Amino acid sequence: MSIWNKHAIFEKNSIILIIGVLIVISIGGLVEILPLFYLKSTIEKVEGVRPYTPLELAGRNIYVREGCYTCHSQMIRALRDEVERYGHYSLASESMYDRPFQWGSKRNGPDLARVGNKYSDDWHRRHLENPRAMVPGSIMPAYPWLAKTPLDAARIEQDMKVLALEGVPYSKEMIEKASLDLKAQASEEDPNAADLAKRYPKAVARAAGDQKGMVSEADALIAYLQMLGTLVDFKLYDGKANLR
Ligand code: HEC
Repeated sequence: MSIWNKHAIFEKNSIILIIGVLIVISIGGLVEILPLFYLKSTIEKVEGVRPYTPLELAGRNIYVREGCYTCHSQMIRALRDEVERYGHYSLASESMYDRPFQWGSKRNGPDLARVGNKYSDDWHRRHLENPRAMVPGSIMPAYPWLAKTPLDAARIEQDMKVLALEGVPYSKEMIEKASLDLKAQASEEDPNAADLAKRYPKAVARAAGDQKGMVSEADALIAYLQMLGTLVDFKLYDGKANLR
């Protein structure tokens, strides 16, 4: 009996056939999928993309907690109508530090990937307090408690440590100075603001809301919204691909 007759085992026993099929398919799967975990080049590095500052990260946590992603996507597709409405289509590297990503799959409201700097902080504050005050007929729910609730950022260092474990390049210094950086970004006059900008280029220190001395959840959320889409200077990249 030559080796070529051995396939009879597979043909006569369906369980062995199934196991054989699974092995062959998984080899194909491994060959296709495994290299992606090791190739750094699967994500093109883009200049300007940096990890979130502690205040932005705290704001992002509130964005996730409140379920903003159930109505808002953060991924502009490479289609003409999207690019004309929202700006340059999203790059993979723009969400490389997002754990979990906020691409979303539903757009009851507009895409937010490039909403940063589109409005003033004050506009956001009033919009979160009552969307109808800024956009008559808006169906967005109001989030009036955000401006009244002090931001609980006691665990922001831990958040950053976990993200660092997952590969976000937070340095030891960034983690140690998290609380200082958070405070610096929440007030325009903080003496540490220059330090913050050194660690996080393009981080903008913003005036806190009405309550003097209190950093509210709305302050953090607005810091996050205002940086979305502002890190990459697309003029440096493909001027032609940008349809705007
Ligand atoms: C029920 C769906 C819904 C949810 C949930 C929701 N939004 Fe909205 N959002 C909308 C709609 C609809 C609009 C467009 C009308 C308007 O501007 O109010 C909008 C508009 C916006 C805008 C202005 C975007 C632009 O380019 O004009 C921002 C910013 C925004 N939402 C942030 C948030 C944040 C932050 C949260 C979570 C705290 C949130 N939204 C939750 C529906 C939603």
